[in-house]
Amino acid sequence: MLYVLNHPLITHKLAIMRDKNTSTKDFRQNLDEIAGLMAYEITRNLPTKEVVVETPMGECVTSQIAKDIVLVPILRAGLGMTTGILNLVPTAKVGHIGLYRDEQTLEPHEYFGKFPPNLEDAEVMVVDPMLATGGSADAAITMIKKRGAKQIRLVCLVGVREGVERVQKNHPEVDIYLAALDKQLNEIGYIVPGLGDAGDRIFGTK
Ligand code: PRP
Ligand code: URA
Repeated sequence: MLYVLNHPLITHKLAIMRDKNTSTKDFRQNLDEIAGLMAYEITRNLPTKEVVVETPMGECVTSQIAKDIVLVPILRAGLGMTTGILNLVPTAKVGHIGLYRDEQTLEPHEYFGKFPPNLEDAEVMVVDPMLATGGSADAAITMIKKRGAKQIRLVCLVGVREGVERVQKNHPEVDIYLAALDKQLNEIGYIVPGLGDAGDRIFGTK
């Protein structure tokens, strides 16, 4: 299922990020804030378990999150969303996947992978601001499935139909969360209108 989180606060902050005149500092800060807002929505249907706590006034039957949560940012740009989500889910563990897109073929190349144990029992969130051809997200999801992950969501900022369809075709059970679904890819695989190169804008490279 595809969820596009059309919330005025998210769209407002994303407009700041899209602006080519926005500084690295403001780009990073707005990404951090949007990631936190998205975290609130994407965790809405997490499985819960009944717990009993003693309040100062007596017994309370309530609920808490039932499973471990693992964030998996795709390096580099996924790192820019990690802190914002961790602010809401501070007990989450974090795995990392290093992928870069070959500028000619647009195919992803893996250079790093490090994960917490017991991925098979966890709710895993793959995080990356951009879902363009979908090659990186597709490869990242395949990597974590090979390590046993079963419950996987993909959390991106801006996507296009092409990337969504690639992920849905190869991983139909993975829910995809976006802040915006943009029009198209250009001839060199960038999202239009998009926001440019997310990694470069987060880290001030190029
Ligand atoms: C960007 C982005 C995604 C990927 C999306 O990363 O952060 O990982 O491109 O494109 P795709 O859907 O066509 O695979 P990039 O390869 O530029 O690496 P970086 O994060 O290190 O800048
Ligand atoms: N990666 C980016 O950083 N931006 C795009 O528009 C596409 C892929």
